[in-house]
Amino acid sequence: MTPATSLFTPVEADLQILADNLKQLVGNRHPILYAAAEHLFGAGGKRIRPAIVLLISRATMLDEDITARHRRLAEITEMIHTASLVHDDVVDESNVRRGVPTVHSLFGNRIAVLAGDFLFAQSSWYLANLNNLDVVKLLSEVIMDLAAGEIQQGLNRFDASLSTETYLQKSYYKTASLIANSAKAAGLISETSLETAEHLYSYGRHLGLSFQIVDDILDFTSSTDTLGKPAGSDLKSGNLTAPALYALEEKPDLEILIEREFAQEGDLEKALALIHDSRGIQRARELAAHHAKLATEHIGILEPSASREALMNLTDYVLSRLY
Ligand code: IPE
Ligand code: IPE
Ligand code: MG
Ligand code: MG
Repeated sequence: MTPATSLFTPVEADLQILADNLKQLVGNRHPILYAAAEHLFGAGGKRIRPAIVLLISRATMLDEDITARHRRLAEITEMIHTASLVHDDVVDESNVRRGVPTVHSLFGNRIAVLAGDFLFAQSSWYLANLNNLDVVKLLSEVIMDLAAGEIQQGLNRFDASLSTETYLQKSYYKTASLIANSAKAAGLISETSLETAEHLYSYGRHLGLSFQIVDDILDFTSSTDTLGKPAGSDLKSGNLTAPALYALEEKPDLEILIEREFAQEGDLEKALALIHDSRGIQRARELAAHHAKLATEHIGILEPSASREALMNLTDYVLSRLY
């Protein structure tokens, strides 16, 4: 159980249904695909994205029950997220995810890439079957964004001149876009006003940015055991995130180490020491807190309810992962 669980109380029963459905949705076309999906959906994960979709669904359907479409949207959201993780782990060469071996470490890169593709394609199919063109447009853009984000990150490795803006843009593509667009889609399915739908989008965008910045800080401050995925790997692979970018403003030596891609013995350790000795991590925390606060303001426009309360508290939960 994750610390987020108690926040999800208003949708706990919904999340249970989701967990059962996800495995079934992947179907059993091929034993390897089935094994890959079973493996990932079985291992769990925090289920933050479907929880947000379900909480928004409930918070925007105060007088009625949520519909099968809301539930399906939550399932699609988790499926897209999981597909992106399968590909991300190939790109990052990570061997652990959700506390279990990654798909590529079990089945090889070729199968992992194809299994990720299959999950993306399958989520598109379920998406089309929602019969809501606006929702299809929102979520298909997410799938483009995810790939664009991975490519942008790959091209910017070890580039010490990377700006915070470019970093945030990549973080939008890789993380916030899915949360923002699925939040808005949940609003559209509830037939909220367009204005409300835009606030839901902004809530998801800021929460997503905050979440990614926190994930990037944890990569410096946490352990592989706690995270269920390798810690300390972003800097090593040249993926410069908020703590490193801020540290670069204070520590000119850091740039030299990064530009030579930590080629000499002890370079990585020196770079880590410079970052820990700088205000980088603290400033990254402040940036995450800034986006979390903006998220709270956007969700505050909904009518009060237990689900809205949970969505508001989720912004604190994201930051609390740091302590
Ligand atoms: C991992 O997302 C990818 C990031 C955006 C940092 P989560 O931390 O939500 O992963 P799971 O779903 O809980 O495994
Ligand atoms: C977010 O980026 C992952 C995706 C959205 C695919 P990361 O590369 O930081 O994710 P982790 O740290 O591997 O979970
Ligand atoms: Mg990764
Ligand atoms: Mg990460």
